[in-house]
Amino acid sequence: MSSSERKRVLVTRALFPEHLARLAGRFEVEANQEDLAWDAQELARRLVGKDGALITGGDRIDRGLIAQVPGLGAVCSISVGYNHVDLAACTAGGVMVTNTPDVLTETTADLGWALMMAAARHVTQSERWLRAGHWQRWALDQWLGQDVHHSTLGIIGMGRIGQAIARRARGFSMRVIYHNRTRVAPEAERALGATYVERQTLFATADHVILVLPYSAENHHMVGARELAWMQPHATLTNIARGGLIDEHALSEALAQGRLGAAGLDVFEGEPRVAPELLALSNVALTPHIGSASRATRNAMANLAIDNLCAALSGTRPPCLLNPEVLERRA
Ligand code: DGY
Repeated sequence: MSSSERKRVLVTRALFPEHLARLAGRFEVEANQEDLAWDAQELARRLVGKDGALITGGDRIDRGLIAQVPGLGAVCSISVGYNHVDLAACTAGGVMVTNTPDVLTETTADLGWALMMAAARHVTQSERWLRAGHWQRWALDQWLGQDVHHSTLGIIGMGRIGQAIARRARGFSMRVIYHNRTRVAPEAERALGATYVERQTLFATADHVILVLPYSAENHHMVGARELAWMQPHATLTNIARGGLIDEHALSEALAQGRLGAAGLDVFEGEPRVAPELLALSNVALTPHIGSASRATRNAMANLAIDNLCAALSGTRPPCLLNPEVLERRA
């Protein structure tokens, strides 16, 4: 195929070279291997004349942008979450949208587990103390944390990742309770050993609460002062979903005042900026949105996003199409 017949694709962030080579074998590619930060105007300018885009969770695709790029046929995100893409606007504009579920489930569940353990057992906090040279001798009452084994785990969001977390809990002999928009099938509950409870019961009962649900305008700050007040003072709260689920000011106050034991946060409302009041606290373990960050998983995510893009631009159904209405309308 001559280069003039090839579809034109924009890649908004730096890729592993093998993925860029895969794209270049098939499309006319404009890449951003320097990983420069593009503002909304720059992104729109570069998308003009493109057939498809490979994006990540940090790229906002909103109604205004879609209006400026009438030729765009597909937006393929290297992420499972797609709250950064206005799905309704894309559907109205005839733009297919895809994400990368499944391939990151186990890796993200691992990180959720690591953060919960770190929060419960002061792993990052005591390490900072050790590195600062404060460790003079062992003491019986040093860095006393909360047990994870045989405790109650409260999972909010029982999708793929929530279920993977529940499966891990069995190895720690935990009681698992969960809350989800829709209750999972009884066979799945039995297999996971998980009991459905109301939201307030979950917050009030769990020793460790973990958030694993998709973010939307409806659940913005679903953990605020009221929910934190329901929690037990020794409990931990871990968030590996999206920062906007938690009112970070209310969380910082609860942690500072000892109304909550500890928190583990991988995601933040204004990321990559982290609220100074969170940074100032010692009883919170912080990681920079690395839930899916293993080489194998990021590799699988990039390949799946490229599979989606190839299918979308060749007129076939992408494996992870979020708005099938676009294809149906084209048929
Ligand atoms: C996801 O896949 O949604 C991760 O949070 C990365 O954006």
